[in-house]
Amino acid sequence: MLEVHTIDELREALAAERMKGRSIGFVPTMGYFHEGHITLMKEAKKRADTAVVSIFVNPTQFGPNEDLDKYPRDLDRDRSMAQEAGVDILFTPSAEEIYPEGYASYVDVIGITRVLCGKSRPGHFRGVATVVTKLLNIVQPNIALFGEKDWQQLAVIKKLVADLNIDIEIVGMPTVREEDGLAMSSRNIYLAPEERSAALIISKSLKLAQNMVDNGEGDASNILSALRGAIEGEGLVELEYLEICDPESLVPVKEITADTLIAIAARVGAARLIDNALIRPQLENTGDLV
Ligand code: PAF
Repeated sequence: MLEVHTIDELREALAAERMKGRSIGFVPTMGYFHEGHITLMKEAKKRADTAVVSIFVNPTQFGPNEDLDKYPRDLDRDRSMAQEAGVDILFTPSAEEIYPEGYASYVDVIGITRVLCGKSRPGHFRGVATVVTKLLNIVQPNIALFGEKDWQQLAVIKKLVADLNIDIEIVGMPTVREEDGLAMSSRNIYLAPEERSAALIISKSLKLAQNMVDNGEGDASNILSALRGAIEGEGLVELEYLEICDPESLVPVKEITADTLIAIAARVGAARLIDNALIRPQLENTGDLV
């Protein structure tokens, strides 16, 4: 595995790959890898000849009181996990490499960034859209892969790629879960043992929603009140939002008649956790929840 720190070095390495006729699969990350990241890397390697992974804790997507400084980092561990997963090129730029002195351009996807996480994290998706646009321009991959745990982020990226005519296939991959259902996240490291147990109510309530729909419930407000009751019964979990919405537009829906997204954000101790599930009427289950 080749590791590069600068855009010039990366472009040179990628030009050599393209000269050999190799396709490029790209996984942008903020590091501190877990099985979700590894799944994306392996899929990149399956779908393209050369797998490129970036590790960059992007300062522009963190608010002033968020966890930029505390965000977990372990480059040595990440490097060996990426190598093990078959990654060909690891890009680990500095903040100055991505945002040099005088940097002044931002990408703002309006509409879908103003709901769900966008309400409590103003500016977050502007930072995500900016860095992802930059990374896609730098790497110019054939495909780029993202996890569906960050469903809204994936929707924002699909929208910006369509709106800005960026000719890259965006692939969403199902959320990878711990055996007990907790969605994998680098931020799970913030959870004390009793908080981790309490956090299970999040994935359990998504499962409850699917069960209700399987049993014929289609009224979103009934599902929301059942889930709210379950989550609020868990003392250590402070619900930030719980919404049932259209999976693409993220507009709330009243009746579940088609594939519908249930999205949750909650604070558990020092961790802000998000999770979601696509609820499918008439189908047995979403396949990825315990
Ligand atoms: O999901 C993440 O890890 C980040 O938001 C991303 C897409 C790498 C942009 O910084």
